Amino acid sequence: MGLIEDLAVQVRPLADQFARLGTPAQLGVAVGGFLFLSVFLNVLKQVLFKNPNEPPIVFHWFPFVGSTITYGMDPPRFFKENRAKYGDCFTFILLGKKTTVYVGPKGNDFILNGKIRDVSAEEIYTVLTTPVFGKDVVYDCPNSKLMEQKKFMKVALTTEAFRSYVPIISDEVTSYFKRCPDFKGQSGIVNIPPKMAQITIFTASHALQGKEIRDKFDETLADLYHDLDMGFSPINFMLHWAPLPWNNRRDHAQRTVAKIYMDTIKERRARGETGSQDMMWHLMNATYKNGVKVPDHEVAHMMIALLMAGQHSSSSTSSWIMLRLASRPDIMEELYQEQVKHLGADLPPLTYEDLAKLPLNQAIVKETLRLHAPIHSIMRAVKQPMPVPGTKYVIPQNHVLLAAPGVSATDAQYFPEPDLWEPHRWEKESPLAPSIVRNEQEDEEEKIDYGYGLVSKGTASPYLPFGAGRHRCIGEQFANVQLQTIVAMTVRLFKFRNVDGSNNVIGTDYASLFSRPLEPANIYWERRDKE
Ligand code: HEM
Repeated sequence: MGLIEDLAVQVRPLADQFARLGTPAQLGVAVGGFLFLSVFLNVLKQVLFKNPNEPPIVFHWFPFVGSTITYGMDPPRFFKENRAKYGDCFTFILLGKKTTVYVGPKGNDFILNGKIRDVSAEEIYTVLTTPVFGKDVVYDCPNSKLMEQKKFMKVALTTEAFRSYVPIISDEVTSYFKRCPDFKGQSGIVNIPPKMAQITIFTASHALQGKEIRDKFDETLADLYHDLDMGFSPINFMLHWAPLPWNNRRDHAQRTVAKIYMDTIKERRARGETGSQDMMWHLMNATYKNGVKVPDHEVAHMMIALLMAGQHSSSSTSSWIMLRLASRPDIMEELYQEQVKHLGADLPPLTYEDLAKLPLNQAIVKETLRLHAPIHSIMRAVKQPMPVPGTKYVIPQNHVLLAAPGVSATDAQYFPEPDLWEPHRWEKESPLAPSIVRNEQEDEEEKIDYGYGLVSKGTASPYLPFGAGRHRCIGEQFANVQLQTIVAMTVRLFKFRNVDGSNNVIGTDYASLFSRPLEPANIYWERRDKE
């Protein structure tokens, strides 16, 4: 039988069923009736069948859609409102999946320090990350291999390496502001987030991946990374496999970028290069515990992973810092005076050691991450039923767990006047100092080694912008050095204020996986010295 006849035979019963449904009006009534019935049954189920051994479910009208829209529009508000209604632990429906949120330090500990047999990050993230990063790294390998990969990355970030990064980052910042047409003249108005995204990629690629790779960002790499980025759209949790235009571009970009890194690795080897401080160099020379040298394709894929992990979080944070400074020109002036006082009026070239002499400069980053942590939701798949200590709840295996450390970071119980951006609160004597600073609790945290060096467990801390547990960030120190250097160099060159002179700050865009400022986020800039 031919293909057409074959298809006709398959389709006939369906066509007959539609014909039986009758006119479009009858069809409309049938669909309406079906919708009504499913909403009715869904509500009935929530009202009548509450399982006392599972966390309460956030009320929702529609099955599958559940609370997806209210959560997606403003996750922090969703967490706060439902915490007030249901307590620290509750479940909501996210695209058909039962997602259990557990906020507060206990919740952070339960999820982020969960045992490997209980929770899995890779099960959630691999569909998104593997097509972007490439095979055999991060969430496309057993967790024990990721722990080794994180160890290689962490070991590369030595004090010596940081010492070499500060001049690289400072020079990139100064030369960026010199050549960027939007900063020509004595003053102007600029939409700041795209500028900070560029500064972040130039500084990170140069410091972590070396000058050859950095130079390629002026040519091909910027567009290719943009295509890779599209693979991270939240819609790809469902459509990662689909042959859609943005996925085709993602796959092409992944192959091309990986090849650029692998060619660079070969060239560096052929040159017989020794003694570099960048991350690529360290990974090229790393060996797994089983004696296998890290293959070139894995080095290339880790390079992509590192740059992508750092790019979104650091560029969002630096944008928020600049917007906060524009809303508080007095703090920007204090930052400048701090440098004059501690480094000298001639403001000599910035060094790694100088950063430690600038406590307000450090606090700016800390306070901005408190209010604007770019990762608002950290998810894990539940591998087996998990009893919640101190409660009667058991989280079933088909649930997803969601930690939101931003909730405790903005809780008045831990941070007086939590919604106020006040970098001075990180000084011990400040009336707004959080208890973790007043009691010097930060240094006393319990430490644990998951295979990539000692990290604090974070069990008691309400402030975890870099996460906790086996998946904790290894880029924290790099991000701090990068952000503090960017801020210090920007403050040397400019004064910022809001265009309307107010103290307001723009809202947050939650449309992508990492939250960031809504755009346009314009600020008014003015040069300190004449050009
Ligand atoms: C993991 C935040 C910068 C590399 C994480 C996690 C958080 C985080 C919350 C935990 C995710 C989870 O538990 O699922 C941040 C913030 C940054 C930043 C707020 C900047 C302000 C960086 C940078 C790098 C980096 C610059 C690379 C140089 C990583 C890596 C992981 C990670 C490799 C481990 C993922 C895992 O083990 O599953 N980061 N990060 N991050 N971050 Fe960062």
